[in-house]
Amino acid sequence: MLHAGGTSVTILDTTTATDAAIDVDSRYVAHNYSPLPVVAASADGAWITDVEGRRYLDCLAAYSAVNFGHGNPEILAAAHAQLDTMTLASRAFHSDRLGPFCRALAQLCGKDMVLPMNSGAEAVESGIKVARKWGTDIKGVPAGRGNIIVAQNNFHGRTTTIISFSDDEIARRGFGPYTPGFRAVPFGEADAMADAVDHNTVAVLIEPIQGEAGIIVPPDDYLPRVRALCSERNVLMIADEIQSGLARTGRTFACQHWDVVPDIYLLGKALGGGVIPLSAVVADREVLGVLHPGEHGSTFGGNPLATAIGSRVVEILQRGDFQARSAELGARMHAGLRGLVGRGVVTVRGMGLWAGVDVDPALGTGKHVSLRLAERGVLVKDTHGSTLRFAPPLVITADEIDWAVGQFAAALADMPGG
Ligand SMILES: Cc1ncc(COP(=O)(O)O)c(C=O)c1O
Repeated sequence: MLHAGGTSVTILDTTTATDAAIDVDSRYVAHNYSPLPVVAASADGAWITDVEGRRYLDCLAAYSAVNFGHGNPEILAAAHAQLDTMTLASRAFHSDRLGPFCRALAQLCGKDMVLPMNSGAEAVESGIKVARKWGTDIKGVPAGRGNIIVAQNNFHGRTTTIISFSDDEIARRGFGPYTPGFRAVPFGEADAMADAVDHNTVAVLIEPIQGEAGIIVPPDDYLPRVRALCSERNVLMIADEIQSGLARTGRTFACQHWDVVPDIYLLGKALGGGVIPLSAVVADREVLGVLHPGEHGSTFGGNPLATAIGSRVVEILQRGDFQARSAELGARMHAGLRGLVGRGVVTVRGMGLWAGVDVDPALGTGKHVSLRLAERGVLVKDTHGSTLRFAPPLVITADEIDWAVGQFAAALADMPGG
């Protein structure tokens, strides 16, 4: 069955359960998001069911945190087993789950060590601290003088330090004073990055493919040139693979599309299997070895429940079937979306089951189109302006992709002026 027995429903004429849930949210939940008027109640595979029993094909996958599908049975089995055993010990003691998880993840990344954290933003913050400490302890940069080069239009999270080097005014305005020590250069321009590096540069921090900016794939020479620049100038290359990594683009890491190995991987989202926040900084001993007891930590970071789940996620990734699925079905999704160019779609970008779609602005904003699409049973999220992101759970089937593309075509045709 596709959406609501194949009939489209009008979400704007919401019924009681939806209205009631949204009313409670608007009274008691801080208004830091502007969600679509869909109240999710359960989910399975690539589908979300709302409080009215309507089914939606999830083409967001919680911003890639649900890469392996809602309720993935292998991941739930690991979670259930650990729930009955031990959930939290804190890092004050060892746990029998942490070491095996870090060993497996380090091996997956081809690195020596793992620093476990919780949210993606925490992994980014931790990566910044590690790079600064490496700068003073190993590179010999005077304390407090290290700088980090970032890309314009980046998205690395929303903590105070991270928004300090964002150029998204909505994320920044009113939240100063900002953390110094960052320089932003255009994404995709290796020459501009080379010009920005000086003897106090400790790291370059980039998303290999910019996610929130609209799934922006850089020119083919970009990441190899950034890699070479970092090696030549003794600067750490930090790849934020929190959204692009863990099979989303058809490879374990997006950097692999260009045969690039960064010095530091930042991972999150899908690492927790869509069940629990789990993030990580992964690097060699000469980098992560700069941390000593008391210099960094987190009560929940590396907890037994999260790491039991993370170990299962690493096992799944070692098999490679989700990467293959993303590559194969991604080609189908991209072909379908490209078929809509000239029929309401201006551009399609991306890799694997990850696409940024610019809709003709004359038809409306990305938010307008995503509302129409939700009415047709497909959930997507706009990024900026008229750009939509398609990032379904990697368990989606070929038929479901074709159906989603068909609904997208119909939604575009429904738009005033479509
Ligand atoms: C590339 C990237 N880095 C970091 C983050 C922040 O992750 P979190 O929301 O778990 O803090 C995100 C979230 O979308 C992201 O896309």
